[in-house]
Amino acid sequence: MGRCADILSAEEVKPGLGTKVFGQEHYIYCRKIDSTNKYARTLAEEGYPEGTLVIAEEQTAGKGRRGREWYSPFSRGIYMSIILRPDLSMHQIPRLSLLTAAALAEVLEEAGLKPGIKWPNDVLINGKKIAGILAEVITGRDGIEFIVLGIGININNPSHEFPDDLRTPPTSVMTELGIPGSRVELLQKLLLSLEQHYELLLTDDFTAILEKARRLSTVLGQKVQFDDSGANLAGIALDLDENGFLLVRDEKGKIHTVVSGEIGPL
Ligand code: BTN
Repeated sequence: MGRCADILSAEEVKPGLGTKVFGQEHYIYCRKIDSTNKYARTLAEEGYPEGTLVIAEEQTAGKGRRGREWYSPFSRGIYMSIILRPDLSMHQIPRLSLLTAAALAEVLEEAGLKPGIKWPNDVLINGKKIAGILAEVITGRDGIEFIVLGIGININNPSHEFPDDLRTPPTSVMTELGIPGSRVELLQKLLLSLEQHYELLLTDDFTAILEKARRLSTVLGQKVQFDDSGANLAGIALDLDENGFLLVRDEKGKIHTVVSGEIGPL
């Protein structure tokens, strides 16, 4: 295999990977799999350690949020899951989602794009979805046992290949830049950025991440509506609090702290 191959195997990726833990000890590469999150969960249950990476060229049943499917055609994107075993409590999980979105946005900015973060963790370019995050938290009697952090990024998808029925209109790095992106390089940069952001979370140094998330937010100052939050809340998104929760002021002026949910169309 020549050096220009854009395949995501350990041989191609690890020589330029500057992480300490993420993807180092266990780099599990699959040509085709149902879902990297599903496989990473099995491995975590078998005891695989923090930083174990599962990466696939193609997923046949990629999992999106809220039971949706993540479109994962062969060699077009990055489909990856990392096992995390942090000493965190449940209310800190939104921070993890937010820092992942911030790390993704950082890498996409470096690639010349102008990403935005739609709370809690969609990464968009001009309103179109380029990346998604699915953090699955597995708890036991003593709190969090492990987390499978799944990330999907559309990289070399031509726009005509996307299915028509995606909830948010999609885009890819190639569509936005007009030239193909190096998946190997994006993966190396993302793993490093993610690890650095994660270290900040563990040391409780969240201010810089919050600032970045605020700067890139597509919802702050905007009207928002949660169609499925139970509370049927609508109002103006005011700010992110120190946990990464969204503060929303309803029409009566009452301020609500939204822990999770999905902002629907107005
Ligand atoms: C979303 O709905 O926005 C979240 C999408 C997450 C997709 C990624 S692709 C790699 C990992 N494995 C999965 O099955 N899902 C996540």
